Amino acid sequence: MNNLDLITNFIKKTPKSELHLHIEGSLEPELMFKLSKRNKIDIAFNSVDEIRAAYNFSNLDSFLKIYYEGSNVLITEEDFFDLTWEYVLRCKKDNIVHTEIFFDPQSHLERGVKFDDVINGIHNALKKGHSEFGITSKIIMCFLRHLDEEPCFKVLNHALRHKDKIIGVGLDSSEKGNPPKKFERLFNAAIKENFLTVAHAGEEGPPEYIWDSINILKVKRIDHGVQCLKDEKLVETLKEKNIPLTVCPLSNIKLCVFDKLENHNLKKMLNKGLRVMVNSDDPAYFGGYLNTNLIETSKALNLDLDEVKVLIQNSFKSSFLDENSKNNWLSKI
Ligand code: HPA
Ligand code: ZN
Repeated sequence: MNNLDLITNFIKKTPKSELHLHIEGSLEPELMFKLSKRNKIDIAFNSVDEIRAAYNFSNLDSFLKIYYEGSNVLITEEDFFDLTWEYVLRCKKDNIVHTEIFFDPQSHLERGVKFDDVINGIHNALKKGHSEFGITSKIIMCFLRHLDEEPCFKVLNHALRHKDKIIGVGLDSSEKGNPPKKFERLFNAAIKENFLTVAHAGEEGPPEYIWDSINILKVKRIDHGVQCLKDEKLVETLKEKNIPLTVCPLSNIKLCVFDKLENHNLKKMLNKGLRVMVNSDDPAYFGGYLNTNLIETSKALNLDLDEVKVLIQNSFKSSFLDENSKNNWLSKI
């Protein structure tokens, strides 16, 4: 068996955790098509092939436009259940034993969808995933940073009724021009309510947004964070504070953050001792779930088995699991 086959086998058979996954980004074209018919929602495509053919992006914003359009077919609790259940089945297939997923309530509320239908559909599918396959999970509610801060407080109020299901809040959507400090009051309010905080930062935006996510939003993890290498002092701080960076290699290529996977900076981040791991972000749009991300990245960056092991270990270490569960999984890698 050559080294690449060995690593591929290792990736497939090892229990893994995923920490950066937008559930709406796991909406496969087949389900999008099915739900558009079920809910009688017009979409701009006549076939599954047409949908797939439209997935060519030049940057984050060009993706977000199609991503929010796709989300329009999600209406009922059953839709959110079906969406999440499909992802759970992917987890089973990829041997993901723990997952922490994002959802974007604001993209649904503005279409008249009920918050409770969104969260209950997602939660019930994850609950079934636990009882049928033993897969554990956490739910993180994201605020859309291209919107104003004020209306987000209403969304936070919804989350208060579902504290048993939502562990934390995050920040996603269009990064450039929407700095973390825009959401200072909101994140303070969320922290007061005992929500953990995370934020997308340094995907396309500058290192300053990573600093502000740490200092102002008090995040436990940075989502993406690949721009951190532009600032040596920031790298030192991320290391000192052991702040995890949830890197998504295939996403970064699809959104042209790097021109090709061979030029991705994940290996550099890893070699600097940063707490990085691999995630799929929006797998239905970016061409692969977690195993594909890990396998393609290992191949392109020539990662050795020890480096792949560290990535998988970092994912459990950086999760919001309790220490016993973390140690239990770490002992199995
Ligand atoms: N970045 C920002 N917002 C998002 C993303 C992303 O990669 N995916 C879904 N919403
Ligand atoms: Zn993301």
